[in-house]
Amino acid sequence: MKTTYFKHIITGIFLLFCMGLHAQIATETLYCENRINPLGLDNVQPKFTWVLSSKKRDKEQSAYQIQVSTAPNFSKTVWDSKKVTSNSSVRVAYQGAELQSLQIYYWRIKVWDENGKASKWSETQHWQMGVLHETDWKANWITVGYKEDAMRESPAFRKEVSIPKTIKHATAIITSHGMYEGFINGEKIGDAYLTPGWTSYNKRLQYQVYDVTKMLHEGKNALGALLGSGWYRSPLAWGDNTDNFGSDISLLFQINITYTDGSTAVIGTDSTWKNQKSEIVNSEIYNGEIIDTRKSLGAWKTVGYNDAQWFPSTQENIGFSNLVATYNEPITKHETFTPIKMLTTPEGDTVIDFGQNLVGWVQAEVEGKVGDSLIIDHAEVLDKNGNFYTANLRAAKAEDVYVLNGKGKQHFEPHFTWQGFRYIRIKGNLKNLSKDNFKAVTLYSNMRNTGSFQTSNALLNQLQHNIQWGQRGNFLDVPTDCPQRDERLGWTGDAQVFSATAAYNMHVDNFFSKWMKDVAADQMKNGSVPHVIPNVLNPTDGGSTGWADVSTIVPWNMYVLYGNKTILKDQYTSMKAWVDYMKNQSHDDLWNTGFHFGDWLFYRPDDDTDGRAAITDKYLIAQCFYAHSTQLLINTAKVLGKTDDVKQYTTLLERIKKAFVNEYMTPNGRLVSGSQTAYVLALKFDMLPEELRAQAAKRLAENIKSYNYHLTTGFLGTPYLCAVLSKFGYHDLAYTLLMQQNYPSWLYPVTVGATTIWERWDGRKPDGSFQTPAMNSFNHYAYGAIGDWMYTTLAGINTSSKEGEIGYKKIILTPHFDNSYVSDDVKKQNKEEPLTEVNGSLDTYYGKLVSHWAKSANKITYQVTIPVNTTAEIHLPVIDSKQITEDGKSVEKQKGIQIQTLAKETILTVGSGNYTFTF
Ligand code: BGC
Repeated sequence: MKTTYFKHIITGIFLLFCMGLHAQIATETLYCENRINPLGLDNVQPKFTWVLSSKKRDKEQSAYQIQVSTAPNFSKTVWDSKKVTSNSSVRVAYQGAELQSLQIYYWRIKVWDENGKASKWSETQHWQMGVLHETDWKANWITVGYKEDAMRESPAFRKEVSIPKTIKHATAIITSHGMYEGFINGEKIGDAYLTPGWTSYNKRLQYQVYDVTKMLHEGKNALGALLGSGWYRSPLAWGDNTDNFGSDISLLFQINITYTDGSTAVIGTDSTWKNQKSEIVNSEIYNGEIIDTRKSLGAWKTVGYNDAQWFPSTQENIGFSNLVATYNEPITKHETFTPIKMLTTPEGDTVIDFGQNLVGWVQAEVEGKVGDSLIIDHAEVLDKNGNFYTANLRAAKAEDVYVLNGKGKQHFEPHFTWQGFRYIRIKGNLKNLSKDNFKAVTLYSNMRNTGSFQTSNALLNQLQHNIQWGQRGNFLDVPTDCPQRDERLGWTGDAQVFSATAAYNMHVDNFFSKWMKDVAADQMKNGSVPHVIPNVLNPTDGGSTGWADVSTIVPWNMYVLYGNKTILKDQYTSMKAWVDYMKNQSHDDLWNTGFHFGDWLFYRPDDDTDGRAAITDKYLIAQCFYAHSTQLLINTAKVLGKTDDVKQYTTLLERIKKAFVNEYMTPNGRLVSGSQTAYVLALKFDMLPEELRAQAAKRLAENIKSYNYHLTTGFLGTPYLCAVLSKFGYHDLAYTLLMQQNYPSWLYPVTVGATTIWERWDGRKPDGSFQTPAMNSFNHYAYGAIGDWMYTTLAGINTSSKEGEIGYKKIILTPHFDNSYVSDDVKKQNKEEPLTEVNGSLDTYYGKLVSHWAKSANKITYQVTIPVNTTAEIHLPVIDSKQITEDGKSVEKQKGIQIQTLAKETILTVGSGNYTFTF
């Protein structure tokens, strides 16, 4: 009897304890400068972000405490924030003692919930500082000791070093002119490729920091590096444009060691390092790589190798002033694809199909006689006869050539190049190859996947897949236009139109923060922004509307979507310089001068007898973007408290809009260009007087109807088309456009088997023929900018853009549950009913946000997950809140849900947690 009584008490205490645990908030993922345990930061005030979790609803943080120490057991504290009453959990800045070069810091966090209940200390995290002072560089820049020939073979560098004592910690810091791979005792250092990445090298050259403690040991060690021409000196752009940043190929490699006895040592490149031409006979970005393994240097990466025939290295006086730490995620390998098919084309080529247009390289495992060769060509598509098609790669050879050494099974993959392809053609004299000899591996910046978007419609899901693959293929340290032809450049226009969509699919905060610094670095003295960044085109070419506006649009997007105020501070001068450039080019507030790409690749029928080509006056576009950039500058000035600028540019903006109305609009509100893009931009950027906006939207809708429910927009109009329609009461028309399957449309490429977004609406025509090979990429993300609208409008995932609420601190959910076709044609094309389900999610800095709705004959179920420490405003198209239930009960009876009833909707305001609404 007594024991049962006791048992009850113990169970009771245990239950209370468990409830207590659940009531708490726990720390989940922790980020330092938005990355997990980053190595090599040169920001002396890093920022911390922590994701919280709880099984309960309405959980908030009321206070936090951060501790930072140079010892993992927190005995040597350099900062203890103590308990800070604050609900901030994103980008909390370090405020402790001065941070030291290359020092490792450990940090942890404790939080208190809204009831003052404390969490446990989080798991200990760490970061390592980069090289903070030029004098910390002890290594010397070195280059080869022989005269390079025209092939520019990739040099190998080596040095054996004796390590006298037991190592406690060792850090390698490496960069190069060209690309590098570093090695210690035969092993590659780190998992990054194409390092040091691409920046405007002469102004900003990134180095990488690696923990190599486990790779070194007491006694003899072999250090090595391979270099390739890379972006530094491979031909880029057109017309044999080599040596864009210099002609030397150089290495800077330093290892800082701390021994267990507390003493330290530094090993670095100098003239005692030896070098020799490697088996990589030639390596260029567009053309590919040639490896002749008959020329193998043998075991040069390991101790005991005889390098008597190698050359001493030449020290170079390059300096260290342009060196910067790596801020974004490095390029790493991701998915591996095995071939889906090996085939012989009508022309007799042996071709392998990987089933996905991807970016990376092929790995081949083959065996043959000495001197046998394996040649791999890359292509995105087969032509209508099923032949291997490379004309659209223009001058890019995109070919990897391997020569065998006859010594058994050999593994081949390139080092300093990459290609965009779905198909490969196998040439050379190897017999009996099968598809099992080949794999394809993708390469892209190692950004976290953050978003998912799935619906009841298979074509739409494939469109989302294509958008994501366009991003994977073109976010390779810089945002490139395309990954395959002789271009692969950081085109500014493409990047700005896609930046918001990109921020849904993946974590691009650091990626864009890094690249925008190069935008600022390459910006011209007069404020003009080059067409491509890093700029490898004519240094004075730039200032095109919609392209150069990357300087204002991307920072603002990163601010709103990630709560990143730092990018606004960092880019403010650049943003302002761009707006001032436009101002200086204008006469009477009208910017109608200079070269512009315009609404690039807008709809142009072949035989345009009827004037159906959707041409938009380029200066009309310029005036719209002039206003938009000025508006974003004003917004930024407000955030940064620059009141004088707010005043000055607000006056300017009024004048810009007035000049627009005077020049481009009739008194009745008709625009001089009647195109979709003209109306879309004018409406999106508030260029028209309020009272004329509704009828402008009507004209836009009529225009779309006149093309039988097709879009006609190019790069600049497309990103905003559906958003403008939804905003001005034409949501069903936007939906119809999205579901249009005939050219021009988003789904047309999907219906003919696209696995990425195409550069042109008709890259492959319905008769199977191609657009001009002069410009026909099958992996160009720009038109994928529709992804933004799919997430914000169909799934309804939005953040408030108000200061203090940005970056999903306050979530606004506005899904469109009702989507219908306004065209019978489009209805017929789509065999299924309009969407019955949309499931969107986004990993925010606060945690995972879910917006998932499903529709049956008479009921909508809407399931949302709101992260801890945020609130959400949920907009439901229901007038009577009594019709809404949550978790089976009337929403009015649920505690903690605030209800606001408006004329056309009910707004529910909720705290964190999982909710299931039905109505
Ligand atoms: C690129 C584009 C780019 C354009 C400029 C093209 O060659 O591939 O995407 O924006 O030039 O209009």
